[in-house]
Amino acid sequence: MSKQRVLSGIQTTGNLHLGNYLGAIRNWVEIQSQYDNFFFFADLHAITVPYDPKTLADNTYNLAALYLACGIDLQYSTIFVQSHVTAHSELTWLLNCITPLNWLERMIQFKEKAIKQGENVSVGLLDYPVLMAADILLYDADKVPVGEDQKQHLELTRDIAVRVNDKFGKKKEPVLKIPEPLIRPEGARVMSLTDGTKKMSKSDPSEMSRISLLDPPEEIKKKIKRCKTDPIKGLVFDDPERPECHNLLSLYQILANKTKQEVATECQDMGWGQFKPLLTEVTVESLKPIQDKYQEIMDNKDYLNSVLKEGVAKAEEVANTTLSRVKDALGYLPRL
Ligand code: TYM
Repeated sequence: MSKQRVLSGIQTTGNLHLGNYLGAIRNWVEIQSQYDNFFFFADLHAITVPYDPKTLADNTYNLAALYLACGIDLQYSTIFVQSHVTAHSELTWLLNCITPLNWLERMIQFKEKAIKQGENVSVGLLDYPVLMAADILLYDADKVPVGEDQKQHLELTRDIAVRVNDKFGKKKEPVLKIPEPLIRPEGARVMSLTDGTKKMSKSDPSEMSRISLLDPPEEIKKKIKRCKTDPIKGLVFDDPERPECHNLLSLYQILANKTKQEVATECQDMGWGQFKPLLTEVTVESLKPIQDKYQEIMDNKDYLNSVLKEGVAKAEEVANTTLSRVKDALGYLPRL
C-alpha cells in the first residue's frame, strides 16, 4: 500500500521561533518516515501583511536551510517554494469563486490580524485561508500537521473541498480529497514569554516575547531570565491563575524529553531562581545542533539551490495534475 500524503508549510516572515518548531517542524520530522511529505515555504502568504521586498528572498532561503537543519530528510520529504508552483495561485482563484465571503469573515486569525493592521487590510489577508486551502488540496493531502492556531483554517479547507465535491464531483468520484488536521497536543500552543495568555508569535513587536531558533546562548539566557513569572514558590502545571508557569514547565518538559509527571515531581518545590537555569540549559542544548547544521547549509548555497530545484519539479508534477482535474470538473475547455 502506498504511503499517505502529508503537507504543511510556514510563512517566510522572519526567524522561526520555538512555537513554530514545537508546534510544527519537530512533529514533521518525527512522522516523516511514515508518510510521503511535501513541506513548503509560504512566501505568497508572507505578503498578506505589509512586508519588506528586500528581505523576502533571503527569508525564503533561510527558512529552507532551517527546515533541513531541523531534520527534514529529503529521502522522505519534498521541500519547495510556494510561489514557484504557479498552480497555488491558480487554484486559489478557482476556489475563491466557490467560497462564500462570510466563511472568510468568520476567521479568527483574519479578525485578529485585521485589528492590528488598522486601515491597511488587504484583500489578500481576507483570502489567506483560501490560498491555504489551495496549498493543501493541490497535493491530495491526507494529513496536515500544524499548531492549534491553524485548526479553523483546516476546517475551512475541508468545507471548501466538500463544497467543490458536492457541486462538481460525479457520483463516487470526488474532485478533491478531504484532509485531516494533525495537531499534537504537546507544543500545539506555545505561549509568549512576556504574557502567558498570548501565543508566541513572529508578529509580536517585542523580541523578548519569543525565543528564535537562531538565538545565540546569551540571548536565550537573557530572555528566559527576564521572562514573566509569578511570586509563588513551587511550580505546577494547569493552574489557570499561573499561565506563565504552565507554559514554561511545558517547554521544559518537551525540550528535556521528559513526561509531564516527571517534570511535575521534579519542579514541585522549586522556585524560579532554580528552574530558569535548567530551562535555559535544555533550550540551548536543543537548539545547538540545529544552529550548527543551519550554518553548514547556509555556507553551501549550491546545495540549497539544487534541493529547491529538485523540490519544485516534484511539487509541480503533483500540483498540476490536481489543477487539471479541478479545471476539468469545473467545465473548462482543456488547453490544446
Ligand atoms: P505560520 O508561519 O504562522 O506558522 C507555522 C506553523 O507554526 C505553528 N505555530 C505555533 N505552534 C505552536 N505554538 C505557537 N505559538 C505557534 N505559532 C505558530 C502554526 O500552527 C503552523 O503550523 N498558515 C500557516 C502556513 C501555511 C500552511 C499552509 C500550513 C500556509 N499554507 C498549508 C499548513 C498547510 C501558518 O500558520 O504559518
